[in-house]
Amino acid sequence: VEVLQGEFVLSPKTVICFDDKSLAPTAQFYAAELSDMCGCRPKIASRPIGKSPILLSLDDSFEEEQYTLHITPKAITVEGGSPKAVFYALQSLLQIAADAESSSAAARLLPAVKIADKPYFGYRGAMLDVCRHIFTVEEVKRYIDILALHKINRFHWHLTDDQGWRAEIKQYPLLTTTGAERKSSYDTPITKVIENGQTYWTGEGAQTNRKYGPFYYTQEEMKDVVRYAAERHIDVLPEVDMPGHFVAALAAYPKYSCHPDRAPEVWINGGISADVLNVADPEAVQFAKNIITELCAIFPYPYFHIGGDECPTSQWESNALCQEKLRQLGKSSFRALQTEFIREINVHLASLGKKMFCWNESITESGADLDLMKQSGATIMCWNPCQSGAAKAASLGLDAIITEWGSGCYYINRKQSNDYGEPTAAGGGNDNVEATYNYIPLPSGVSSQAAKHYIGVQGTFWAEHVSSNEYLEYLALPRLMCIAEAGWTPQEQKSWPSFVRRMTHDTKMLDLGGYIYARHWMEDYVPRKAP
Ligand code: ACM
Repeated sequence: VEVLQGEFVLSPKTVICFDDKSLAPTAQFYAAELSDMCGCRPKIASRPIGKSPILLSLDDSFEEEQYTLHITPKAITVEGGSPKAVFYALQSLLQIAADAESSSAAARLLPAVKIADKPYFGYRGAMLDVCRHIFTVEEVKRYIDILALHKINRFHWHLTDDQGWRAEIKQYPLLTTTGAERKSSYDTPITKVIENGQTYWTGEGAQTNRKYGPFYYTQEEMKDVVRYAAERHIDVLPEVDMPGHFVAALAAYPKYSCHPDRAPEVWINGGISADVLNVADPEAVQFAKNIITELCAIFPYPYFHIGGDECPTSQWESNALCQEKLRQLGKSSFRALQTEFIREINVHLASLGKKMFCWNESITESGADLDLMKQSGATIMCWNPCQSGAAKAASLGLDAIITEWGSGCYYINRKQSNDYGEPTAAGGGNDNVEATYNYIPLPSGVSSQAAKHYIGVQGTFWAEHVSSNEYLEYLALPRLMCIAEAGWTPQEQKSWPSFVRRMTHDTKMLDLGGYIYARHWMEDYVPRKAP
């Protein structure tokens, strides 16, 4: 970043022009965004006209996500390696505009500057669990808006879990009737409190003892979300969590469990269930494949997440089919059945042109078949143990995504503080913004060979306690911004004091967008006192 002399006047007279048709949607998107956020809508043209243009162009000597943004009093020039990179430059320009002084109602004075930028990691993700509580399509889009503002390029959509199945599958309609409702829900309504000139949010969670659902997304709604994300240069990574965290599916189709005569109920609270898919039953495996086939037709991103976390083997151990399959495999640990299931699903995904993501248990659980995992080419999403999981993935030649669970730092649904009045949330401790910011996803001790496999970072949001969009934003922000920065900025350039300073500007953009965020990190923050 190079600070220059003078200011560019951004006003409704400003014209955005571009040198390549592929930039038209990005130019239009930015004009609308600027209008929403700053009340100033520039015009669009395919060639420079008038004074004070914003000139967008592609430069194929740049990397795909690399850009330059040059603001002078006469013009703003943006060059990017792709429309996506130009989009990122414009997100930076939006941030500058949000923070800039106004010379009149619809004009902003943008300080002259030259920025040359590109991301540190290729995968910059955010997960949302919509099973423990669903978020409407509009709310999911609003979450995606937050990702776009922070140059996050992957939306990991956790669509199925023990507490609810949320994706319409036409071959299996009971998934979204029986599988998409439960008897009660643990909801946490939160409210704003203003005390001592400070803004706080507070709320107590409680069981509703009311039926929750059936709630799910139709296939058309999922396609709509995919389109919406694509307009913001975000890929959607769908997850169907298997063979554990599968109670909602087994409540609907108990014949695919290890006890076909006893349907489990969709869970109300969080935890780990012993009821899992019977991976030794070919019909159960086919059920999983059929679900994946339908979803792969909806999500164009060439990767599919098959979950694989927290899967007890206890029911497999006493199941005749599982015992027989283990014998055939010539293995001793029942965990090997999970690896064999992953292998079969991976072959199926490959037949659909897709590659696989799994949670780190696929390689970190004792008894997992590491030779098979090595051949799978899977991307390993590392949460617990995160760093040793990533090191192991790299040693197997597999790519790793860092989403650290330890001390909650990349689990952005954890409690923002232990201060009085803080809303009920999963996890205690001091899961604070600074810990998230200071976490090092790629430690300096990792060899350069292994480091190539550390391909990204992700903020992970579980919704057991979170029943409203307000609360989602309050917990996610600004921690998601810390993770976005770890995704974008080289470790040696990160600095917490600098982040806090910049946040006083970035919160203007959040305020303009009407987003709710936690304030514990602010220098003048005073914790709420018990009365
Ligand atoms: C997880 O948190 N169970 C991936």
